[in-house]
Amino acid sequence: MDHFLYRDGTLYAEDAEITEIAAQVGTPFYLYSSATLTRHFRLFDEALEGIDHLVCYAVKAASNQAILKTLGDLGAGMDVVSAGEYARARAAGVPGDRIVFSGIGKTADEMRMALTGGIRQFNVESEPEMTALNAVALELGKIAPITVRVNPDVDAKTHAKIATGKSENKFGIPISRAREVYAMAAKMKGLKVIGIDVHIGSQLTELDPFRQAYEKVADLTKTLREDGHEITRLDLGGGLGIPYTHSNDRPPLPTEYGAMIKETLGNLGCEIEIEPGRLIAGNAGVLISKVIYMKSGEDREFVILDAAMNDLIRPAMYEAHHDIIPVTEAEAGIEQQEYDIVGPVCETGDTFAKSRAMPPLVAGDLVAFRSAGAYGAVMASEYNTRPLIPEVLVMGDQYAVIRARPTLEDMINRDTLPTWLED
Ligand code: LLP
Repeated sequence: MDHFLYRDGTLYAEDAEITEIAAQVGTPFYLYSSATLTRHFRLFDEALEGIDHLVCYAVKAASNQAILKTLGDLGAGMDVVSAGEYARARAAGVPGDRIVFSGIGKTADEMRMALTGGIRQFNVESEPEMTALNAVALELGKIAPITVRVNPDVDAKTHAKIATGKSENKFGIPISRAREVYAMAAKMKGLKVIGIDVHIGSQLTELDPFRQAYEKVADLTKTLREDGHEITRLDLGGGLGIPYTHSNDRPPLPTEYGAMIKETLGNLGCEIEIEPGRLIAGNAGVLISKVIYMKSGEDREFVILDAAMNDLIRPAMYEAHHDIIPVTEAEAGIEQQEYDIVGPVCETGDTFAKSRAMPPLVAGDLVAFRSAGAYGAVMASEYNTRPLIPEVLVMGDQYAVIRARPTLEDMINRDTLPTWLED
């Protein structure tokens, strides 16, 4: 459930009318609902009630500080993968002891920043990284709490570009080598082993791959304890999928996911962490765009929008489907048309949908891309020198621009001319 619903024939975000926001902010823009973000965080938090846990929002999904603060104020932890994400989480008021640091390529500078600023744990992904972290910790006179991310060799049954848990993927250490890697970690004076980490992919639409991975983690917990390691925390990653269409096949709910976690891992006495990103932010955001032109091709009608692939890359990059709905509700029973919905960028890949059935559109109409809150704004670029589009957050009937559209001067002035080109 989200909070983008029609009321009196026009689309609202909570109690704010989207056409009004569009008139103020200008299109295209991203629009998020605080109530939906809150609801989604609580679903996970409640699903894990009864066991010691922390829901660490995966900052990469949508990293605006207003979003982080909305979630942080509810008690969320954060999963970060770069110095930039760490700094954002801290700037949004999240204390270091609620931040976990993931990623296969943490640099010594990033480790230094997190160790100095405060960190809950590092999820370490290789022996060389472990060696580097140990050196940084010793240099700072600190002890870095770590889990080791294991690769359980499980097929997440999702898009190949976002599956991470097969042995051929670059993530984690093979679970078959876990014992020797933990033995190595235990000898390092700058590290304190506290648990195990696993993350098998994103947009999973079945529980079974999670279950397979978590059963392996349960076995590994016992083995490592027998080896003398203190395993007190299990980080289970993110990945639970969301419905991108309003059809019947919906991915499992957080309650079902939580129940499965309790069943597979609940009796180990470990604190559980999860790192959901998409499920919290995805359906809490829409992309609002305007039709610039309607154009007739030889055998098809093109809808040319003012949003493009640089604003929302998911369709071009993963053949991802986003529902696109008119902001002004179509009259009941009106005949649908088939459209190719495209952006203005000069390449054919800048196509959001082909032969999409929609109520008739005309130039000037506003449309909303649903499920655009996660991996939308964060993956945007300035390709074609198009400014990054604004982000707006709604709470009740209030709204605020939480990232303004840069001016063309802002963008162009970031370039500097070398002396030999100065006039
Ligand atoms: N934890 C780790 C270590 C991750 O790598 C990810 C996502 C998450 C948590 C959060 O996963 P989620 O709950 O959001 O599925 N750009 C792609 C998705 C990439 C996901 C990368 N890692 C997309 O637009 O579909």
